[in-house]
Amino acid sequence: MFDKIYYVVEKATNMEKELNELENMSLVELAKLKSDKDVNALYLKLFGQNGNFTKLLKKLKEIPQSERPIIGILANKIKKNLEEKISKQKKLVANNQLSDWLDVTAPGTPPKLGHLHIVSQTISEVTRIFERIGFTRRRYPEIEWEWYSFDSLNMPVNHPARDDFETFFIDLPPNLKMGKVVLSPHTSSGQVREMERAGKPPIRMINIAKCYRPNWDISHTPMFHQFEGLVIDKGINITHLKGTFEYFAKEFFGKDRKIRLRPFHFQFTEPSFEVDITCGFCKGRGCRLCKEGWMELCGSGMVHPNVLKAGKIDPMKYTGYAFGWGVERTYMMKQGLKIDDLRLLYSNDIRFLEQF
Ligand code: PHE
Repeated sequence: MFDKIYYVVEKATNMEKELNELENMSLVELAKLKSDKDVNALYLKLFGQNGNFTKLLKKLKEIPQSERPIIGILANKIKKNLEEKISKQKKLVANNQLSDWLDVTAPGTPPKLGHLHIVSQTISEVTRIFERIGFTRRRYPEIEWEWYSFDSLNMPVNHPARDDFETFFIDLPPNLKMGKVVLSPHTSSGQVREMERAGKPPIRMINIAKCYRPNWDISHTPMFHQFEGLVIDKGINITHLKGTFEYFAKEFFGKDRKIRLRPFHFQFTEPSFEVDITCGFCKGRGCRLCKEGWMELCGSGMVHPNVLKAGKIDPMKYTGYAFGWGVERTYMMKQGLKIDDLRLLYSNDIRFLEQF
């Protein structure tokens, strides 16, 4: 009795194996065929009266009744597949798609070219504009001490920007002089570092870097970019600051644009201003986009004497100005763009990025 069961299983699996092998070998052979005649010959070789498949199927009788349906289903499936592939190959042969002939003069398919991210494009353009008037691009740490981000910039310990609502604090033991470790919340943290690097004025730097703040909504991403200008020398005054903005606005946004300074407050500049630029659409007349004809561009001011002191520069001898603003915002203002959700900039969705 045991022998019999063994026999049944063995027979069934053998037939299954043979069917699968025949299918595989036939498909390999079929793929090589390039003429209708050869494809027809293969069909006969399989399904003709003495064809391999037909012969194999005759063996079905030898298989015990109980196993027959399973093998029968498999055989049908294989037959259907082979017939389908054969008729597909016949079509390819008929359309001459398998020909060996190659037209070397036919134009190729051009590879899809990418381009720089819009933020990188803006950074290079801004850098070029400032380099033309003698600024040098600098880079300072993104992971920064509280001292450079706040204290050295005349920001008291209880300043609201130092709350963990506004700044990312890193869970590391604080340093006695430098304070805690933060992710730099603005490029102003490069100001005192630049004074230390230079030793003494003149200083004319443009620091463009990533900044971090814990905000995540349609108009904020936790990582964004700012550029920061710092100029320190003897006799620097507000007219230099204003002239620099006039120059930048005309180079970056266009000759017909004007700027204005509006009084403001920053801890690290005195006096402080917000700089506005005339709207690119209504040219200052007032429209739906800008309301009154002006758009806010950036924060700026004359470097506070305490900041100069923190950088070991004598405020009685030297003065300077500083400004800082967002790269993403500047790009959108130039293009007259209103991106509904700023987070798209960093989602790496190619359909979004290839538009620019
Ligand atoms: N750091 C300020 C901000 O992030 C901008 C600023 C830079 C203002 C330099 C004045 C001088 O809003």
